[in-house]
Order: sequence, then C-alpha cells, then structure tokens
Amino acid sequence: MAPPFQRHVFVCTNRRPDGHPKGCCATKGAEEVRAAFKSEMEKRGIKGQMRANAAGCIDTCAMGVSVVIYPEGIWYGGVKTEDVPTIVDEHLLGGKPVERLMMPFMKKGPKPEPGK
Ligand code: FES
Repeated sequence: MAPPFQRHVFVCTNRRPDGHPKGCCATKGAEEVRAAFKSEMEKRGIKGQMRANAAGCIDTCAMGVSVVIYPEGIWYGGVKTEDVPTIVDEHLLGGKPVERLMMPFMKKGPKPEPGK
C-alpha cells in the first residue's frame, strides 16, 4: 500500500556533539529503536500500511528517545527497544495507546480544542 499510511511513527534520531547540555536521542539508542519498529512491523506483515521514519529533534530531548505516532498525535518518551513490541501490538495494531510510555504532558487528559 502506498501512502497515506494508517499510522506513521516518527523516531527522533537527532545526534548532538558529546557533552552538549541538551543531550540527544541518538546517544540513548534512537537508531536501535527505529530499527526495532521496522523489524516488528515487518514481522507482523504491516510494513507498507504503517511506517517508521527517522525524525530530527522534536524538542523533547530530556525525555528521549522521543517517538510520535500519527494520526493520533501520541508522544512517547524514554522509549527503549524492549518497549517497541508493546507499542506495535497495543497502539499500532490494537489502536490503544500505551499510557505508561507516554510523555507526562500527554497524561493530563484530552487536549483543549483550538481557540478554547
Ligand atoms: S534530540 Fe531527540 S527530541 Fe531533541
């Protein structure tokens, strides 16, 4: 299946120089996390329907590895390779985001509608 994908996973793989005060997702295993998404998608036969792409910094560096999934707009933080099968099964396939892995600002309830 060609785009648009049912779900689109963006993994921040930004790399900063060693010692940079902001740190970066690359040194926390971002490439491995992205590879795990691709591998788990392939195993489940959903490659082509869903996609995992590398992204630049999405400004949540302290909470990396940062992952955002659309169309829901769910932000996950501190994602490790061992979390990926759970995200794939529960969120990508099951449609139920994994609350324990969401960034703290995602857990404050539904987002206000624009203009409210
Ligand atoms: S380096 Fe990954 S969110 Fe900034």
